[in-house]
Amino acid sequence: MLRFLFLPIFFVITVSSSTSDIKAIYWLQQPLFPPSAINTSLFTHVYYAFLAPNNATYELHVSNSTAANLATFTATLRPSVATLISIGGANSDAALFAVIAFNATARAAFINSTIAVARAFGFHGVDLDWEFPRTANEMNGLGQLFKEWRAAIFAEAASTSREPLLLTAAVYFSFDYFLSETTSLRYPVCSINDNLDWVNVMSYDLHGPWSNRTGPPAGLFDPKSNASVSYGLQSWIRGGVIPKKIVMGLPLYGRTWQLLDPSVNGIGAPTFGAGPGLDGSMALFQVLEFNNETGANVVHDKKTASVYSYSGGYWVGYDDPVTVAVKVAFAQSLYLRGYFFWAAGLDTSDWKISTQAQSSWMLCINESGGVN
Ligand SMILES: *[C@@H]1O[C@H](CO)[C@@H](O)[C@H](O)[C@H]1NC(C)=O
Ligand SMILES: *[C@@H]1O[C@H](CO)[C@@H](O)[C@H](O)[C@H]1NC(C)=O
Ligand SMILES: *[C@@H]1O[C@H](CO)[C@@H](O)[C@H](O)[C@H]1NC(C)=O
Ligand SMILES: *[C@@H]1O[C@H](CO)[C@@H](O)[C@H](O)[C@H]1NC(C)=O
Ligand SMILES: *[C@@H]1O[C@H](CO)[C@@H](O)[C@H](O)[C@H]1NC(C)=O
Ligand SMILES: *[C@@H]1O[C@H](CO)[C@@H](O)[C@H](O)[C@H]1NC(C)=O
Ligand SMILES: *[C@@H]1O[C@H](CO)[C@@H](O)[C@H](O)[C@H]1NC(C)=O
Ligand SMILES: *[C@@H]1O[C@H](CO)[C@@H](O)[C@H](O)[C@H]1NC(C)=O
Ligand SMILES: *[C@@H]1O[C@H](CO)[C@@H](O)[C@H](O)[C@H]1NC(C)=O
Repeated sequence: MLRFLFLPIFFVITVSSSTSDIKAIYWLQQPLFPPSAINTSLFTHVYYAFLAPNNATYELHVSNSTAANLATFTATLRPSVATLISIGGANSDAALFAVIAFNATARAAFINSTIAVARAFGFHGVDLDWEFPRTANEMNGLGQLFKEWRAAIFAEAASTSREPLLLTAAVYFSFDYFLSETTSLRYPVCSINDNLDWVNVMSYDLHGPWSNRTGPPAGLFDPKSNASVSYGLQSWIRGGVIPKKIVMGLPLYGRTWQLLDPSVNGIGAPTFGAGPGLDGSMALFQVLEFNNETGANVVHDKKTASVYSYSGGYWVGYDDPVTVAVKVAFAQSLYLRGYFFWAAGLDTSDWKISTQAQSSWMLCINESGGVN
């Protein structure tokens, strides 16, 4: 299955050891999955999701209960992995980030507070997840924010004689797709290269029950459109971002649909609305339970390098160890820095997908020609 994808290029690549590889995962407050349950031998970095700036002061205000969570998070994980605070997220106020990006006073207050909070709780870095800048001016503001943030991080590190904090951002799956339908919108490439340690490319949610056709939520390829992981990652490189600053996103969840006609059940089949799961999304372990309990048909689709299952009029698109192995090999063929998962608690209890990603990444041939 999918063997055709393993073109020879995957076996002649070398990976520089000058930058350490990233194997990251986001952890979120809800649903509750204690940081202590994260198998840290599978990851290099764990993100705390999310904090949000206050809409009047533009600073991160940490309540006492959040403070306790932040302290527990770093106390639990810090010995084994690097930890970062992620700010924003899909449910946060995108307009507030635009206000911060446009206003020098607000930027300074925001940046200052992120550094203070990261240091106070022993984090190694900060991450911005602004979903999404919508205009060329907002993209410019984002570039300016990164520039001042990096300067403040270096200044703080110099004045305290500590390692500088890491600075990363979660970004759209593609550098130039959808967002650019009406304008020539582009992420601020130069600022990203100069100021960020890396970007987490959200290579998922490309199809979902919001459309009335089935489709792979995070298919590597799509012969009919640009809504694919490969298109998105290559667009970031074409846009000028250094491959070693690009980290590929991998979803630990599936998307579900209800088929209009259960006998029409391939990719692109007509649907009406979401299938099982919260708003049509299911944790990976729930997808496997669904497959097992319903005796679902499981199909690996070669054209998209994706997997889906269907049963009783429901259709589920997701990732499994086979598709993840192919994606990791693809990311390495592009010389990317690593991968990250959304999110902790959604993999199987024995971390099947995370383990596959780690072992696939390590199969890589190293600089000296050995196999790590
Ligand atoms: C954590 O992952 C490592 C590496 O795959 C594995 O050897 C170990 O058994 C796992 N530990 C737990 C508690 O799952
Ligand atoms: C700011 O946040 C407060 C508390 O969440 C909210 O009540 C208020 O409407 C927000 N103000 C603006 C301008 O968004
Ligand atoms: C928060 O914690 C501080 C210090 O422990 C304490 O003085 C303060 O009363 C607490 N605030 C609330 C709202 O519990
Ligand atoms: C910028 O933010 C500062 C601090 O919150 C505020 O006092 C000022 O009015 C803002 N300036 C503009 C032009 O919005
Ligand atoms: C934030 O600003 C205050 C006041 O200007 C300053 O004392 C403090 O050192 C700054 N903190 C950081 C982390 O830059
Ligand atoms: C699906 O949506 C498209 C575009 O919104 C619409 O043209 C089409 O009629 C819809 N098809 C079905 C089967 O609902
Ligand atoms: C995909 O994107 C390229 C530009 O990168 C564009 O030329 C092409 O028309 C797009 N294809 C589709 C099917 O939208
Ligand atoms: C599938 O379900 C059966 C019966 O409910 C259970 O015994 C088995 O362990 C399950 N297998 C997997 C792989 O979850
Ligand atoms: C490359 O792999 C070989 C064989 O496993 C190993 O001995 C060597 O230390 C590795 N080199 C690097 C730079 O990782």
